Amino acid sequence: MQTTLLSATDTVTQASKTFSPSENFILRARLKNLSQYQALYHQSIENPEAFWAAEANELHWFKPWKHTLDDSKKPFFSWFTEGKTNLSYNCLDRHLNTQTRNKAAIIFEGEPGDERVLTYHDLHREVCRFANVLLGLGLEKGDTVAIYMPMVPELAIALLACARIGVIHSVIFGGFSSEAIRDRVLDARSKCVITMDGGYRRGKFLPLKEIVDAGVAPCPCVKHVLVLKRHRDTVGRDCPMTPGRDVWYHEATARVTTHRPAVEMDAEDMLFLLYTSGSTGKPKGIMHTTGGYMTHAYATTKYTFDMQAEDVFWCTADIGWVTGHSYVVYGPLLNGATVFMYEGAPDWPNHGRYWQLIEKYGVTIFYTAPTAIRAFMKWGDEWPAQSNLTSLRLLGSVGEPINPEAWLWYNKNIGFERCPIVDTWWQTETGGIMITPVPGCIPTKPGSATLPFFGIDAAVLDEEGNPSDHGLLAIRKPWPGMLRGIYGDTERYVRTYWSKWGGKYYFAGDGAIRDQDGYFWITGRVDDVVNVSGHRIGTAELEAVFIENHAVAESAVIGASHELKGQTLIAFVILKSISAGIDENWLRNDLNRMIETKIGKFARPEAIVFVPDLPKTRSGKIMRRLLRDIAEHRELGNVTTLADPAVVEAIRERFARLKTSTSA
Ligand code: WTA
Repeated sequence: MQTTLLSATDTVTQASKTFSPSENFILRARLKNLSQYQALYHQSIENPEAFWAAEANELHWFKPWKHTLDDSKKPFFSWFTEGKTNLSYNCLDRHLNTQTRNKAAIIFEGEPGDERVLTYHDLHREVCRFANVLLGLGLEKGDTVAIYMPMVPELAIALLACARIGVIHSVIFGGFSSEAIRDRVLDARSKCVITMDGGYRRGKFLPLKEIVDAGVAPCPCVKHVLVLKRHRDTVGRDCPMTPGRDVWYHEATARVTTHRPAVEMDAEDMLFLLYTSGSTGKPKGIMHTTGGYMTHAYATTKYTFDMQAEDVFWCTADIGWVTGHSYVVYGPLLNGATVFMYEGAPDWPNHGRYWQLIEKYGVTIFYTAPTAIRAFMKWGDEWPAQSNLTSLRLLGSVGEPINPEAWLWYNKNIGFERCPIVDTWWQTETGGIMITPVPGCIPTKPGSATLPFFGIDAAVLDEEGNPSDHGLLAIRKPWPGMLRGIYGDTERYVRTYWSKWGGKYYFAGDGAIRDQDGYFWITGRVDDVVNVSGHRIGTAELEAVFIENHAVAESAVIGASHELKGQTLIAFVILKSISAGIDENWLRNDLNRMIETKIGKFARPEAIVFVPDLPKTRSGKIMRRLLRDIAEHRELGNVTTLADPAVVEAIRERFARLKTSTSA
């Protein structure tokens, strides 16, 4: 399978095959042909404000907005100025006087097989109750809470409850360690942490509360830890409770009603923070506000997934990442759709788990990541073949570039060549989907995210900002779901996203190619962010951990392509001279353990290579490109600018030796 990860450049230059949506799909689709897309796109880009205003008008506003866009303080944009709305109201209350009221909002299955269905009416009650508990803890509009939970309906309920009363949520993915929780809680000054006794993963009950306890111990800002029980009807796992700080959710609910009106939020009131990796050691708290994010999530869900009343939509992302925010919770519920949510892993108790769930619940739209698709491929065609997947009508992909071989496998073995595939490019920062096929309209090419969404002025530019067919991905006009900043670091916001082309365009951090049909092919990150199994990890975050080890003098971490994970982390580490003779395996374990405790298990590098030196230019800059060449077994690029050209051979030799010893 070594050849499967063709770069986008290879793929584009091969005459790539085009796939048109099937007749059956088009029959039901909201938009049905390319010229419809082109006409609407053309209009939307001539006047993006009119497009977004029309979408926003399909939602409820307590008070209409004055200006759809205020770009007078570029790059600090405001959308729907002075408008008042509430996201939770639009996800729930708006549907209560319609046929949607008694429809399933969330269908859930836990890993042990427990099942739950919450109608819109049920969900509304639960969200009101949850909001009342939060208010009872003294939380107020504008406060921030951290949420650290497994993939269960209460996680979605917690988000909606926060949005209902104007409390800003900062969800921390359940794979993060105590120290990562601490950093995020302190940075956001979260007053409360919402967590659960634990959740199920591959047959085990993983405790969460203890991880939170260790994380928040040094956080004076945390006044309460609200703890839910994974099994509501049982006594619950024993977990330590700190008197005065920790509150059992089931005890707090005994005292509250299921009535709680949604507060009127200003369109630009902060809705959530979500931490993501960048090119420094410190994760960025990406800020999203209410009206614009809501409108973007709503419109992209409607058109990209062609969401219809009878659909059962399954986005497999964890709510700990942005995909879960926009396409497990907000986008589908804004559309009155039915969401399927699953707690567990795809390979437990067997490799057919996802396909059995699709058959059981009649899932119609399935949205997952290329990493998962490559794993399905490896596990074998026989697993999906054992289930009846005929309910599916649309497939999606997100999080990393999809290699054509995985795309074709997905198309054949899951979609049976009937289901269009929407390969959606976007980011935590963009809030919602930006480049994607509109199914029913846009013929697809395996490996290409195709064309921009309505109202999105995407372009491929060179370093100077001129259009180019191979260069950097840029967004040239503001869009409503865009981040409003990095929490507590305005300067970093401007520098990271707006300095590349002198403040004119948004710089996404991705490379891209545009082919003769105008299709976009994302080639991957151009900064020091690595996309491992669709999870963003900053190489500088790992380097910052390594340097805390007394044996380490310096390190450089890079991303190398990997047949299953898309990319993987390889660390090149120079030891201090006092560490000479140290047992390398012992030290490797120690460094891995540090990554696990400071970030999380998912950030462990694939390999840690101890090297005598790093390839540096005469001015001391590490040439990571050469490290990537070594890790990907390529001919080395130009080494003449190196201070010591011999160093790359020594690194190559160490890398090869490690490979042989680990594969032996
Ligand atoms: C990458 C996830 C190629 C890209 C929604 C981006 C993709 C980063 C795609 C954002 C795609 C996401 N094709 N690359 N369809 N979707 N990416 O913030 O590098 O976790 O910058 O948001 O994932 O990752 P994030």
